[in-house]
Amino acid sequence: MALETKRVAASTLSNGAAQAEVAPLVRLHNLSKSYREAGQDHLVLASIDWNFPVGQFSCLFGKSGSGKSTLLNLISGIDQPSGGQVFIREGDAEVEITGLSDRERTLFRRRNIGIVFQFFNLIPTLTVLENVSLPIELAGSDRKGHRRAATLLERVGLGDRLDSYPDKLSGGEQQRVAIARALVHDPALILADEPTGNLDEGTGDTVLDLLLELSRDAGKTLIMATHDADIAHHANQVLYLEHGKLVSHRGRD
Ligand SMILES: Nc1ncnc2c1ncn2[C@@H]1O[C@H](COP(=O)(O)OP(=O)(O)O)[C@@H](O)[C@H]1O
Ligand SMILES: [Mg+2]
Repeated sequence: MALETKRVAASTLSNGAAQAEVAPLVRLHNLSKSYREAGQDHLVLASIDWNFPVGQFSCLFGKSGSGKSTLLNLISGIDQPSGGQVFIREGDAEVEITGLSDRERTLFRRRNIGIVFQFFNLIPTLTVLENVSLPIELAGSDRKGHRRAATLLERVGLGDRLDSYPDKLSGGEQQRVAIARALVHDPALILADEPTGNLDEGTGDTVLDLLLELSRDAGKTLIMATHDADIAHHANQVLYLEHGKLVSHRGRD
């Protein structure tokens, strides 16, 4: 497949027209974020317009401080923008998550989004199985969910560590638990923020392969923040961020 690089003025950068025929899973409209510090507004994300197609792996690529985590946190509804909107499909409906209350956003996230963090964010007082079962519990526990948690843990190679606590696992193992946790409630959207950033290269490669394979096999839409060009190389599309601006993108034809 040919890789194509396009560099256009940030103000006109949008893939809306090109993908009009495919309903995107996530749609960003004029999305901005600024922080007020010492009496001054500090613009962290500037007017981002973008569509993330269903079932694709998209990378947010940029140096530290370019706004990748901020953008992921706006998509997940963990954070609220200063301007603009985030729309996410849920079934046949498109929901403006930036128009929901805190509580509604939390519930939306539990139904539709799985998140993998750089520092794993497992709960230290829960076992591996309990950590992975938690999203199921929060969504209204059932036995099928617990079986699914155990099955996923087998799939990530940790079927024999169900009763271990996170501090007994290596970094790579903890991230594999986190991947199982992100997928267990069968969300359409997986967000990953530098998921291999805290792992050595070999372990990171294994974890990345696992995340990509599981997401692809389950038809998930994956949006990953990274500053690693080797990771971006695997993506269907790459959005390049510089100082909170989308400066270019690369997609596959
Ligand atoms: N809570 C906050 N308050 C003030 N500034 C913030 C806050 N969070 C992030 N920033 C700033 O926003 C910019 C983008 O940060 P971030 O999204 O974390 O970048 P990246 O994930 O690409 O490293 C940085 O300049 C950072 O200092
Ligand atoms: Mg970050």
